[in-house]
Amino acid sequence: MELRDVRGIGRVTLKKLVDAGITTVRELIVLPPREIAELTGLPESRVRALAANAREMLRNEYVSAEELDALKMSSPRLTTGVKSLDRLLGGIEGGVITEFAGEYGSGKTQLCHQLSVTVQLPERMGGLERSAIYVDTEGTFSTERIKAMAKRFGLNVRDVLRRIYVVRAYNSDHQIEVIRAARSRIPELDIGILIVDSLINHFRSEYPGRENLAVRQQRLKSHLQDLMRIAEIYSMPVIFTNQIVSSPDPFSGMSKVPAGGNVVAHSATYRIFLGKKKGGLRYARIIDSPKHPEGSEAYFRITDEGVVDVDGE
Ligand code: GTP
Ligand code: MG
Repeated sequence: MELRDVRGIGRVTLKKLVDAGITTVRELIVLPPREIAELTGLPESRVRALAANAREMLRNEYVSAEELDALKMSSPRLTTGVKSLDRLLGGIEGGVITEFAGEYGSGKTQLCHQLSVTVQLPERMGGLERSAIYVDTEGTFSTERIKAMAKRFGLNVRDVLRRIYVVRAYNSDHQIEVIRAARSRIPELDIGILIVDSLINHFRSEYPGRENLAVRQQRLKSHLQDLMRIAEIYSMPVIFTNQIVSSPDPFSGMSKVPAGGNVVAHSATYRIFLGKKKGGLRYARIIDSPKHPEGSEAYFRITDEGVVDVDGE
């Protein structure tokens, strides 16, 4: 189903939409009409009517739970390249956001590197045979690590490097801009995963203190909505990493929780806590998921080869 097939979209309107980076029927349905109106210069009422026509083309908005279930089962899950983590999570799901939150050095960045490699694996090996966008906000992206991981999975190193699109985001405005611009490039670049490492560090440093909190959260919320829409429009996995902060807890005094409060908590469908144990052992624990018991855990290690199972797997 193409944009030009939507009733009411003629040559001129089509050009306006495409020039504004709206190239698919899904975008017309998922993006808020107001935003499309701003991007294209079309009147908002017109955009509403077009979106209604697009929805009509899908004829039946109601999907039975059975169909939904079949659809979920048939959409491939992305492997992390670590058996224990795959068992824990059932692979990384498309269409939603997965968050990896953890203390310094817990393996968030390493896992993000690995996912930008495993997404390129053939489907029979748990990959999606697609490319990755890696938004690097901390300057910690490492081609050396990618090379090591590509070798481990038996992939051609140059091909793997070529298929990871790295964007360095220098501040929160830039980060927001990068994600907005990414949306329309996803089909042409054949992207299968979008990674933001890390989500919040720019926001935290640019909006310090209580007095800036409301503004910060507002901007963060709109940024997270952009990320959710990308997952939704392309049914693809979106990943972000998050830092851990101390928060007063009525029971234990202080507890360590992912940064960003409710705004971040509500946008990630799966929230995974990463932590360190003695002897280089690391663990992943599910802290929020619609379908996993809270607190389920898996262990892993980080070696020269990448993120791997603990011995004996
Ligand atoms: P922050 O971004 O600082 O919050 O941490 P992070 O959770 O992103 O940590 P990251 O994924 O960068 O993990 C860092 C850890 O991975 C290091 O402490 C090392 O233990 C391990 N690591 C990274 N590179 C290598 C490597 O080439 N070889 C080995 N053996 N370990 C590595
Ligand atoms: Mg990191």
